[in-house]
Amino acid sequence: MISARSLFQEIHDNDDAFRLFCSIAAKGEDQGGWENGRIAALVTDQELAPKIARHGADEDKHGRIFNALLHKRGLQPVGVPDSADYTMLLERQGIGLAHSRLRREDPLTDHDVLVYLAHSRVTEQRASEQMRLLVRVFGTNPEIGRAVRMISADEDNHLAYCHEELLRLSAAGHGPEILDVLRRTARAEIRTYRDVSLAVMAQMGTILRWSRPKSAVLALGIQLTYLYDRLGGWRRMTSLRTPAIHNALGEPAPA
Ligand SMILES: [Fe+2]
Ligand SMILES: [Fe+2]
Repeated sequence: MISARSLFQEIHDNDDAFRLFCSIAAKGEDQGGWENGRIAALVTDQELAPKIARHGADEDKHGRIFNALLHKRGLQPVGVPDSADYTMLLERQGIGLAHSRLRREDPLTDHDVLVYLAHSRVTEQRASEQMRLLVRVFGTNPEIGRAVRMISADEDNHLAYCHEELLRLSAAGHGPEILDVLRRTARAEIRTYRDVSLAVMAQMGTILRWSRPKSAVLALGIQLTYLYDRLGGWRRMTSLRTPAIHNALGEPAPA
């Protein structure tokens, strides 16, 4: 029987698989950290800027944590293939703010901020779900339990912050525009997540010498998850509700 638990356990127990997993995670976190750092520098809303800076600082910290997990096992990060680079693939499809835009020094417009928040709303949903899954599998693991619990709590905070800020913009009359961007972002995200999952699983299959039937079952599982998302699961990424945690990024990141 293949379960998420047995799958992650197998990846965790193999140095090459663990190295690939942590390298992919670290790269995504680093990219998120850089994007948020640039957005914080370019946003004109002085209430929002420190929250975005905190968001970026958290993602940078997550990148350092995944690299530290590698070093603890005496491993070096490996290059991430383009097909497994979730954040880059989204950016290439025009989802979120383009890196070319973020490298310029012009202040962000209101629309740019809305696009940033909608992109974060969708991708932080994914991050929060993934980290909750890792907490279920590894929450009590002595080697990585503390790290995954900490990152999971941060991703929940990021998601809460996105809900809160988008609801604020919605109340200011931007509701239809937000919904439009959220839907477009979610459609691209579920497709990209499927493609990246297939690419990562193919690499893991080679490293862990999975049988053809095992690889086929996993690929089918990924396609069925996509189908579920396509048929309505995506709505969980576009809904907006007042979060249980208020002002989740209101404090600067702890040093
Ligand atoms: Fe993160
Ligand atoms: Fe995050």
